Amino acid sequence: MPILKEGQLDIISHSAEQTQRLGSRLGGLLTPGDIICLSGDMGAGKTMFSVGIGKGWGSKTPLTSPTFNLVHDHTRSTDSQHLYHLDCYRLEKPSDADSIGIDEVLSGRAAVILEWPENIVSILPKQRLWIEIRVVENTRRNFAFLAEGKRYEDLIAKFREFTFGV
Ligand SMILES: Nc1ncnc2c1ncn2[C@@H]1O[C@H](COP(=O)(O)OP(=O)(O)OP(=O)(O)O)[C@@H](O)[C@H]1O
Ligand SMILES: [Mg+2]
Repeated sequence: MPILKEGQLDIISHSAEQTQRLGSRLGGLLTPGDIICLSGDMGAGKTMFSVGIGKGWGSKTPLTSPTFNLVHDHTRSTDSQHLYHLDCYRLEKPSDADSIGIDEVLSGRAAVILEWPENIVSILPKQRLWIEIRVVENTRRNFAFLAEGKRYEDLIAKFREFTFGV
């Protein structure tokens, strides 16, 4: 019996900086088509984690909260790939996502980070990495990773190795 359960990972972050560093490790592993869902209350740390993902992925522009534009399209110089960063908070029903060009976002040509993914969950691919962020206290956050599909089980395994060496 493996000690660590495949396809799941729980981590406590003790600071905003640590959350960014964790995000950065994940960002370095993303490939086009990856769907990263960041769920959690306001102020949980979804954007903070996304900032780290952007750094690790190599974005030319720093990731910021997509509260006003709802979709931010980032690129990197190494291979001109795209990384979409969405805030679905204001989408009241999944069909609202049409107005933000969701078909292109989910075309599989780019990696995608979604904040408030629960608002459009019915139109998201079933295969995805779901990360639930919970405020434990003050600066402590619990990150619960759940892989939906083989690609994401592999991604969690790589992330675990890259981050903890096991
Ligand atoms: N361990 C931690 N990880 C992440 N953020 C932390 C941590 N400790 C404290 N914070 C603080 O919590 C806040 C997280 O804000 P952030 O914008 O990332 O939240 P969010 O989940 O994106 O919220 P929203 O739903 O409003 O978009 C920041 O002010 C950050 O400094
Ligand atoms: Mg946010």
